[in-house]
Amino acid sequence: MATADSSAPRSTALRLEQAKQVEARKVARRSFLRVSAFAGLTLFGGTLLSGFLGFFNLRHPTGFGGVVTVAKARVPQPSGTPERVSDGKFWLVNLAGAEGDVLGIGGTGGLLALYWKCPHLGCTVPWVPGFQGSQVNFPGVNGWFRCPCHGSTYSRAGVRVFGPAPRPMDTMLLSVNGDGSVNVNTGKITGGAADNPLRAVAYNG
Ligand code: FES
Repeated sequence: MATADSSAPRSTALRLEQAKQVEARKVARRSFLRVSAFAGLTLFGGTLLSGFLGFFNLRHPTGFGGVVTVAKARVPQPSGTPERVSDGKFWLVNLAGAEGDVLGIGGTGGLLALYWKCPHLGCTVPWVPGFQGSQVNFPGVNGWFRCPCHGSTYSRAGVRVFGPAPRPMDTMLLSVNGDGSVNVNTGKITGGAADNPLRAVAYNG
């Protein structure tokens, strides 16, 4: 008498199970390769970015666009000749009391960093110690910032009194260090306005 072969379904189930395991291993391998490739790319990108930032010194920029430190010895005396700081493109002025506050808004003096770029068309504005205030209706006040391009004229605090410039000279963020040196953040520029004299930072050397 013939008997039913009970081993056939079992071997089919076994083959199915083995096939599933093989497929699962393939999926796992593919996932691993994908993750590895992604990690490699990320690492490569990070290294590239780091090299780029390092090469161009963008992490801690110095000079114009970054923080420029002016040594105490270069900080002008109150009322002294403004200091031209070329690497930061600014003038460092030390206002004595209301000096430069030609519009009388209550300036009390201190240090100001004036961006030397003229707000009109961008010429570099020099300090002209011999320029007479009488030429711009401020007799007796001598020494002005005066643009060589179209004549815009600014007080020692960068306040515009004459010429086509649309506003006073822009100012840069300034802070005083414990040793009397000064940090000027040339990346933090504020548009010049009538309140320029009020932006001066007290300085005791
Ligand atoms: S660029 Fe300075 S007045 Fe025109």
